[in-house]
Amino acid sequence: MTKKIEAIIREEKLNDVKDALREIGIIGMNVYEVRGHGRQGGITLAGRIGTYQIDMLPRLQLNIILSDHNVEKTIETIRRAASTGRQGDGVIFIYPVDEVIRIRTGERGKEALTYEGDIDDRQS
Ligand SMILES: Nc1ncnc2c1ncn2[C@@H]1O[C@H](COP(=O)(O)OP(=O)(O)OP(=O)(O)O)[C@@H](O)[C@H]1O
Ligand SMILES: [Mg+2]
Repeated sequence: MTKKIEAIIREEKLNDVKDALREIGIIGMNVYEVRGHGRQGGITLAGRIGTYQIDMLPRLQLNIILSDHNVEKTIETIRRAASTGRQGDGVIFIYPVDEVIRIRTGERGKEALTYEGDIDDRQS
């Protein structure tokens, strides 16, 4: 089974998270700039002209498609690297993925997901 991890993290944590993922052998990924809020609904800032509300805060979304059995290890790695302990550290969503096709070779599934030296290649 193939899964997608969608991790929404603080912008300043990207390098820490990328380095930690590389260490465990996660290679392929996407990064998107997103704006959003969690359960606090944004933040209130005190400025010279009074207080104002920032509703949608900038965050980075990391998408990783990977094998089922690597999901827990990857979640823990992201949590450790992305955490400050404060509200707004982000969230992680997990989705099922139907199929993966590498365009160059036509490989599908696990073959299309494995890179030389990555987390799956190290195990096999
Ligand atoms: N339910 C959700 N669906 C989609 N995106 C979300 C959801 N909750 C949070 N996000 C995204 O994650 C970012 C960070 O959320 P945040 O860390 O504040 O979550 P939280 O649930 O409020 O946790 P905390 O209490 O630690 O702040 C948000 O800015 C938003 O981009
Ligand atoms: Mg929050």
